Amino acid sequence: MFRFAALVLFALTRRAFADQVIYADAALSNGWQDWSWGSTLDYSAINIKEDASSLSVNSTAYAALSLYSPTTFNSFAGLRFDIAGDNPPIQFYIQSTTDNAQSPTIPLTALSTTVNSTAFTSLLLDFSALPPTGTPLGNDTWDRINFQALGNGAVYNIDNIILVDSIVVPPLFLSAEPIGANVISVTGQGDIDYTTLQVKLNGKAVKVSSIQTVPTVDISSKSITYLTLASRFAPGNLSITAGPDTSFSYIIPASTNGSINQHVSFPINDRVYGVNFPTDGDYIQHLGVTISRKGGNAETAYNPFGDFTNAGNDWYFENRAGDNADDWLGMVQGADSEAILLIPALDWVAKDTTSYSYPKTEYPDQAGFDPYNADAGNGQFANGSWVTPPDPSHVYAPWNVTAAKQYLSGLKNKPQVVTVDNEIEIASNTHQDMHPIPLNYDEILERVLNFSSVAKEVFPDVEVAAPSTCAWWFYWTSEVGQPDKDAHNGSDFLPWFLQQLAAHDHTTSQRLLDFLDIHYYYAADTSANDAAAQALRLRMTRSLWDPTYIDESWIGTSAPSNSQPNPNAVQLIPRMQKLVEQYYPGTKLSIGEFSSTADTDVTGGLVTVDMLGIFGKYKLDQATYWATPDEKGPIGLAYWLFRGYGTFFGDHSAQVSIPSFNPDLLGVYAGTNAQGNNASLVVVNKDPTNPVSLHLAGLPAGHYFLRHFGGQAGVAKYQTTIKIDSADPLVIPAYTAVFLQQL
Ligand SMILES: *[C@@H]1O[C@H](CO)[C@@H](O)[C@H](O)[C@H]1NC(C)=O
Ligand SMILES: *[C@@H]1O[C@H](CO)[C@@H](O)[C@H](O)[C@H]1NC(C)=O
Ligand SMILES: *[C@@H]1O[C@H](CO)[C@@H](O)[C@H](O)[C@H]1NC(C)=O
Ligand SMILES: *[C@@H]1O[C@H](CO)[C@@H](O)[C@H](O)[C@H]1NC(C)=O
Ligand SMILES: *[C@@H]1O[C@H](CO)[C@@H](O)[C@H](O)[C@H]1NC(C)=O
Ligand SMILES: *[C@@H]1O[C@H](CO)[C@@H](O)[C@H](O)[C@H]1NC(C)=O
Ligand SMILES: *[C@@H]1O[C@H](CO)[C@@H](O)[C@H](O)[C@H]1NC(C)=O
Ligand SMILES: *[C@@H]1O[C@H](CO)[C@@H](O)[C@H](O)[C@H]1NC(C)=O
Ligand SMILES: *[C@@H]1O[C@H](CO)[C@@H](O)[C@H](O)[C@H]1NC(C)=O
Ligand SMILES: *[C@@H]1O[C@H](CO)[C@@H](O)[C@H](O)[C@H]1NC(C)=O
Repeated sequence: MFRFAALVLFALTRRAFADQVIYADAALSNGWQDWSWGSTLDYSAINIKEDASSLSVNSTAYAALSLYSPTTFNSFAGLRFDIAGDNPPIQFYIQSTTDNAQSPTIPLTALSTTVNSTAFTSLLLDFSALPPTGTPLGNDTWDRINFQALGNGAVYNIDNIILVDSIVVPPLFLSAEPIGANVISVTGQGDIDYTTLQVKLNGKAVKVSSIQTVPTVDISSKSITYLTLASRFAPGNLSITAGPDTSFSYIIPASTNGSINQHVSFPINDRVYGVNFPTDGDYIQHLGVTISRKGGNAETAYNPFGDFTNAGNDWYFENRAGDNADDWLGMVQGADSEAILLIPALDWVAKDTTSYSYPKTEYPDQAGFDPYNADAGNGQFANGSWVTPPDPSHVYAPWNVTAAKQYLSGLKNKPQVVTVDNEIEIASNTHQDMHPIPLNYDEILERVLNFSSVAKEVFPDVEVAAPSTCAWWFYWTSEVGQPDKDAHNGSDFLPWFLQQLAAHDHTTSQRLLDFLDIHYYYAADTSANDAAAQALRLRMTRSLWDPTYIDESWIGTSAPSNSQPNPNAVQLIPRMQKLVEQYYPGTKLSIGEFSSTADTDVTGGLVTVDMLGIFGKYKLDQATYWATPDEKGPIGLAYWLFRGYGTFFGDHSAQVSIPSFNPDLLGVYAGTNAQGNNASLVVVNKDPTNPVSLHLAGLPAGHYFLRHFGGQAGVAKYQTTIKIDSADPLVIPAYTAVFLQQL
């Protein structure tokens, strides 16, 4: 009865109108205008068509078919269009020319990966849930639609572009997976009748004792429902039937057995849950970001006296506006995050927001130019060698320790940590225009000593992190190479650096170096992102800790480029801790940049969960993800899982023992508090197809708060509370990360 009333109300208050055709057969209609750029269009193309003709598009790099309506279209439910082409590399976004608002950018691949030139594929963009994350478009003065080519341009045909008045979602079970001791997690669309669902374990029907639909966050197109079964999971076949055509089945394996001991624990440094450049205070709170870094290549050229930066070799050596450091510190600290601030330590910083180092007018023979600024070149000849750099004063203002002192002294907000620049060992590439000479050991050391001294002078209790070395190769050598190493008694770089700092700090009785800071990007290539690459991605977290894991990259197969023990196994955290112990005890270890290698793939999220677990378990002192994780994407979910919205994994790491444990397929991390209670658990099942069943003796019985993402449920936030008995094995679906916290 209530439902009927609501429907009537809905029908009465909703502005009723019909679909609106934007383009069909030869012309734009309903007042729509062509605001395209950089594109050759044929409105009556017949090379491939539906009905009489179609609109053919040939866009150059980043150009777009752009359609504008003098009246806004915010009341429509979605956009339908038919498209043909060889998976054209394009993306969509919707704009308001009134207030410059813009929707997220949606790659075509988020709608379909099978668009082809044989036939038109009909696609629908649902404004209430934009792919890939399900964000609603929101109500704005929308009046412009852009189909934009990526960097190589795009050729395709499009037809029947229509704004639709309503989208009818038929009831649909999307996924139903076993989780915990006796829960089925169901996602669906539309108005589902859950009572039709039948569960059988080893052929015997299992009663559903309760059904709970929970509010969804970030995925308005799906519903999430938890069905609690009257009996517990057991090894064997689980089948879930939701009508004649919809069923899901799983094999619940024999349990993997182990134990946790909350009384054997050590503190986790909460600074391991950091990111670079959080977007705002809400973001910090939603993901539970503990420390935020303002770093990266552009920050090397940050001029605080005007807030200018230069992108260096990342983007045609162009100056641009940068975030004001003081405001940024205020923002992150105001949201309860600590802050890591970079101090530039080369000789130049950007002088404005517009200059660039290699104008075509001065250097006509360059290999590449900015697609958005045809005059700005990449500083390289076609043969790959650098052009002779210009006088730096064309683009930069001088910088030295006096300027740094003035900068830091003027800050109203004080950083907890400073880094001395960023990856300066490769400045002769990243900042070739202003530091073309390769840095040697001595120059890196000199800059670290000079600028960390200034930092400590201005802020006596700030902590310094350096030298922020970019990668394995440069941990052990410099851009100058072997002659430089030879000139330093054959010593590998980081051990030498630690020794020099230890000696210096001993002489002056002042600690200049608090953190050995390194950047860590996996050396193995997972860019194919096929099943093999995904499996490799999920197991290569072992390079963070495992002395038996031979790196599946050049590091594992090449002759060592260093004189380190066991040089083909990275075992990053224990290796660096040992160097510190040997050469400068008391120095902490920080990873200022690291990445999952796949920020939009669910495996990237699972890897990040595994990494955050490893950081706590192996006593890392600080870590900040590069770059800003998308709050609603897989990496954001990994942070949310551990820390989101103030609920967090224990501040102590508790002992986990699992005799037959395969770290390629499973990660298990237990948390507790200083008193050895309040158990929390993070488990990541890296197996793409099989659930895992895990029995951990010592996990207290009782009610637990459960969070999870991944598996068939996909990239979105799922949470509920469940009950666990001490004898229960916990089932974790394939490709899923779960967080449990005792209530
Ligand atoms: C697209 O336009 C480019 C020039 O911008 C031209 O070289 C190319 O042949 C065109 N492609 C098609 C399929 O028409
Ligand atoms: C080409 O697109 C049509 C229409 O969407 C589809 O039916 C067909 O399967 C596609 N072909 C391939 C090879 O993907
Ligand atoms: C959108 O916003 C406008 C102006 O604020 C308002 O009049 C309209 O009712 C809103 N429409 C919807 C669907 O929320
Ligand atoms: C589970 O199902 C598979 C095939 O579907 C069958 O071979 C197996 O015997 C079943 N196991 C149990 C314990 O029922
Ligand atoms: C784990 O323990 C259970 C209960 O004792 C047992 O049935 C199961 O076989 C064990 N699992 C393995 C892999 O040994
Ligand atoms: C690369 O090309 C430039 C310009 O043609 C030339 O001056 C330079 O010698 C070349 N470098 C090499 C290594 O061939
Ligand atoms: C830094 O540069 C300024 C102006 O260019 C100069 O006055 C100052 O002496 C320099 N400081 C040092 C330590 O060289
Ligand atoms: C470092 O400081 C010393 C001593 O003040 C000075 O001679 C040197 O030029 C400085 N080097 C850099 C790169 O700032
Ligand atoms: C040079 O290295 C050797 C070992 O490789 C070491 O025994 C010696 O003490 C080093 N000398 C200095 C000055 O560090
Ligand atoms: C466990 O810790 C969480 C978060 O710190 C807290 O909300 C919860 O009340 C604690 N539970 C117990 C039993 O102490």
